[in-house]
Amino acid sequence: MSTTPPAHSARSGRPPGKPPLRKQAGGPAAPSKAKTPLVDAARSAAFEVLCAVDADDAFANLLLPEILRSRGIDGRDAAFATELTYSTLRYCGQLDAILDSVGTRPVADMDAQTRNALRLGACQLLHLRTPEHAAIATSVDLVSRVRKSATGFVNAVLRQVQKRDVDQWLELLTEGKSASEQMAVRYSHPRWIVSSISDALVKAGRSPLELQQALEANNIAARPMLIARPGVCDSDELAVAEQQVSGRWSPYALTAPPGDPGALPAIRDGRAAVQDEGSQLVALLAVSATVSGSDELWLDACAGPGGKAALMAAVAGIRGASVIAVDQSAHRVELVKRACRPFGNVTTHTADAAALATYPWVPAAGYDRVLVDVPCTGIGALRRRPELRWRRSASDVGTLVGLQEAILVSALSVTRSGGVVTYSTCSPHVLETDAVVSRARAAAAAAGIATEIVDAREVIAAGGVAVDADALIATQNDGYLRLWPHVHGTDAMFAAVIRVTS
Ligand SMILES: C[S@@+](CC[C@H](N)C(=O)[O-])C[C@H]1O[C@@H](n2cnc3c(N)ncnc32)[C@H](O)[C@@H]1O
Repeated sequence: MSTTPPAHSARSGRPPGKPPLRKQAGGPAAPSKAKTPLVDAARSAAFEVLCAVDADDAFANLLLPEILRSRGIDGRDAAFATELTYSTLRYCGQLDAILDSVGTRPVADMDAQTRNALRLGACQLLHLRTPEHAAIATSVDLVSRVRKSATGFVNAVLRQVQKRDVDQWLELLTEGKSASEQMAVRYSHPRWIVSSISDALVKAGRSPLELQQALEANNIAARPMLIARPGVCDSDELAVAEQQVSGRWSPYALTAPPGDPGALPAIRDGRAAVQDEGSQLVALLAVSATVSGSDELWLDACAGPGGKAALMAAVAGIRGASVIAVDQSAHRVELVKRACRPFGNVTTHTADAAALATYPWVPAAGYDRVLVDVPCTGIGALRRRPELRWRRSASDVGTLVGLQEAILVSALSVTRSGGVVTYSTCSPHVLETDAVVSRARAAAAAAGIATEIVDAREVIAAGGVAVDADALIATQNDGYLRLWPHVHGTDAMFAAVIRVTS
């Protein structure tokens, strides 16, 4: 039996070198007419999403709600379908290692339906406390609908998996492995992400012993948070269920009620939204740093889909400022317009944030404050995007950092002296955070733009960013804002506030 966890490819969770998954010749087998097995709607939905994520590069957080809505699956069934789908995707690397060690052929060589029926069954056996007979029988039923020839195989492999609990499997799979390999399989993360988070914790001045908690937190579903956008909504309006509580950090945050938050009138008309508290804090930091002189013209240079732009617009509305919201994608600019529809102070442009100075609409005097929430690996949001860890690869970092640096230098070049730029990522990766800020400041200096770092703790202490400023400051070890799921209950986010001084 092999105990080697598979190295997964960026997009599909398959080991490198394997051909991309395609439907087998002739397509999936037709459902059996002789006997249609009965599988509950939640498991059917989860199985369908897992196959689409695997074979068609679908996004679970977009496809699953669509399927649930179109089939009228709600309440406990919807919650179960979500747990099944998200847990199976998060634990995919670990489950594949286990399945590889018992199967007669590697998971990577199976068709998508067989592979995902096995993953779904193994996840229920090892992580979801589903009764064993139900986990196995339903997985066999699911695969029999689309690939009847695989039913015996799925049944036999899951019966092998059933023989050990998850701790026993992990003991077997991690024996003789390095500490980081053990972490990778135990917490089901690719090894490069384990190393990246480990490095980022050290850089942030946190204990390396927190690595386990940080990885564990990525496997726990994020609690959906709402924002009552200031000036147009009060959080009382969103408090429709007893179990809702105020956010721990943002003054405008509230936990979402059970069910579809999109049904709330304030969310339907854009006065409120679903938004992680980390994103709220970053936008509040961007609008709170002191600027000298006028404070009227704000830019959000990577605005799509518009969550932070809308919060900036809400605050700008209260302070008499206006917001220019830019994105390179025309589709995402439309989303920004939609997010900002309650505010009359937002102008949008489809443009390249790495070349801002080339656009005629950029004011010659420069902006007073700018947010660049740059495209990044997103490995700070693994709680909410369960397949992302298997789709990203270490090489993505190299591709992104050049763009991140170019966007930050460009933002600094269109900010007036005395104005501030907030650079943010939803990744804690050292190369996407500290290193980009250092290199961009050096490049700006070489072009004659002097800058200084504004200590985020001072901005927070001055008020307006966090409900409990002292508690937030106590979790920070340097002048950047660094948020972590295991510390703050937010996505792992980074923000640097940079003042242009000449
Ligand atoms: C992390 S997302 C921003 C999220 C957004 N701030 C929010 O809170 O809703 C990064 C955005 O940058 C955009 N983008 C990527 N490259 C860009 C470029 N060169 N210029 C402008 N926008 C770009 C992407 O289309 C994406 O919408």
